Amino acid sequence: MKFFVDTAEISEIASLADSGLVDGVTTNPSLIAKSGRNFIEVVREIADLIHGPVSAEVVALDKDGMLREAEVLRKIARNVCIKLPLTLEGLKACKALSDEGVMTNVTLCFSANQALLAAKAGASFISPFIGRLDDISQDGMQLIEDIRHIYDNYEFKTEILAASVRHPVHVLQAAKIGADVATMPPSVIRALAMHPLTDKGLETFAADWLKSGQTII
Ligand code: G3P
Repeated sequence: MKFFVDTAEISEIASLADSGLVDGVTTNPSLIAKSGRNFIEVVREIADLIHGPVSAEVVALDKDGMLREAEVLRKIARNVCIKLPLTLEGLKACKALSDEGVMTNVTLCFSANQALLAAKAGASFISPFIGRLDDISQDGMQLIEDIRHIYDNYEFKTEILAASVRHPVHVLQAAKIGADVATMPPSVIRALAMHPLTDKGLETFAADWLKSGQTII
């Protein structure tokens, strides 16, 4: 499973980049606004830090406007992935871009039928939003399962990018289903490594080692 970090905060990305655990970055207009940074500049900085796909989202609502914005975003760096909304206009733009070999991430996916259309449009990634479905008492993880089933039926190459991930259990369940990627806030990536028994065990090892009076170096 590939791990993408879902943020536009350079400091957070930089602190995780040298872990070797981050395979890409996803941003969206809300995350860019939250960063308070210039969109083009912050995407350029992110693309320098992380060599995997860096999703930068268009804001136009029509195909031609999306394609014009995509031309600007593609020029930022070779690893920029064009993020497009799952609307008919977004799907038309996705088809045009994927036909040109441009990396695309179709976002705001909330149904398996939407994901089926994105795969037919040649999307590189599909972003089903787990957390936002859970937030309204629907089963976000069932959507991941349905998309995995459909994509496997037809051997679609579109990668399932589990998004709107709220906690480590989302990552675990998406991995068990076989999502290709999980994009998550930095706090969730860090939480994946945490376990109280690991901390407790390490404390015990350290205390016992101290008692042994030995050193390795
Ligand atoms: O990349 C999609 C992700 O940022 C959405 O997450 O928490 O706003 O539902 P959230």
